[in-house]
Amino acid sequence: MKIFIAGGTGAIGRPLIAELLAKGHAIAALTRSPEKAQALVEQGVEPAVADVFDSEAVKAVVRRAQPEVVIEQLTALPRTYTRESLSAAGAFNDRLRFEGGANVLAAAQAAGVRRYLRQSIAFWAVPGRGLADEATPLAFDASPYVAADARLITELERRLQEHPIMEGIALRYGFFYGPGTWFNPDGDVARQVRQQQFPIVGNGEGVWSWLHIQDAAIATAQAAAQGKPGIYLIANDQPLAVREWLPAFARWLKAPPPPQVSVEDALKASGADAVYYGTQMRGVSNARAKRELNFQPRSLEWIVDRGAYGKVTRAS
Ligand SMILES: NC(=O)c1ccc[n+]([C@@H]2O[C@H](COP(=O)([O-])OP(=O)(O)OC[C@H]3O[C@@H](n4cnc5c(N)ncnc54)[C@H](OP(=O)(O)O)[C@@H]3O)[C@@H](O)[C@H]2O)c1
Repeated sequence: MKIFIAGGTGAIGRPLIAELLAKGHAIAALTRSPEKAQALVEQGVEPAVADVFDSEAVKAVVRRAQPEVVIEQLTALPRTYTRESLSAAGAFNDRLRFEGGANVLAAAQAAGVRRYLRQSIAFWAVPGRGLADEATPLAFDASPYVAADARLITELERRLQEHPIMEGIALRYGFFYGPGTWFNPDGDVARQVRQQQFPIVGNGEGVWSWLHIQDAAIATAQAAAQGKPGIYLIANDQPLAVREWLPAFARWLKAPPPPQVSVEDALKASGADAVYYGTQMRGVSNARAKRELNFQPRSLEWIVDRGAYGKVTRAS
């Protein structure tokens, strides 16, 4: 199958291209950079050089590639995971997803593409008991940034699901970990944990759902080949409260234990989003992905592979 990827040179794009090539697909990938285009050629990928904000150029490269499927993985997220860097990147990242994504969607329709998949996010289910599934409403009343993000992905998913011609699939990924991510030992969260700058907030009851970047690539390739139109939550089998995963992550990194801060202090120092992620976020169920995509995620490396961190409690 011929597949066009927007965002194919990023943290998930790289393993995704490798996975799709290994499955025998022909790939074209968008990039703004002639150097990255050359690297794509060396991998056996057809480069499509354009800026996604240039709608005519995007139309031209998608038409030339003649793909059957388009996968959109565009982001402009920072290398650092801090309140400052994320809020500095936020507006442009939103524009990239909204306007840039609209250009790719229009180009795909004009080129007669059959199926369109896009990156979406699993972090914003409405807080509550148990795991969220694809039908759980999003957190429109949470902290201001989370609520705004929840509204944005709702809109991005809606325009895909209501598309009159193409089959649309939104993949709501959990927190990426593995090479090239914030949670790799060389990533920014690991740096903060080593410096005791990444605290447990309040009771640490926020539940995080995890996804190895390689599993994200495998699930995406499966969804491109056999997914049904709609939404899939893609995360591993270990949704874990911060108070569980963070001390284990610190031990795995041989870092000092994480500090603990009260909700009031976190609100003052880091804002309402830090309190949401630390105390309210809800884990997600991967049951649909397991059932329909034969998704078999690996275990979180700092909990199970090392085996020395005590009992892992599943969120309930
Ligand atoms: N669920 C999650 O946890 C999650 C989700 C997403 C990202 N992240 C994190 O965010 C960090 C960044 O990773 P990432 O892969 O998303 O970002 P990245 O490595 O910066 O890749 C961004 C991709 O978007 C493309 N792009 C950006 N602006 C473009 C434009 N104007 N026109 C065309 N293409 C454009 C880039 O292409 P070119 O540069 O080649 O032009 C690149 O392929 C990582 O640490 C990752 O773990 C986490």
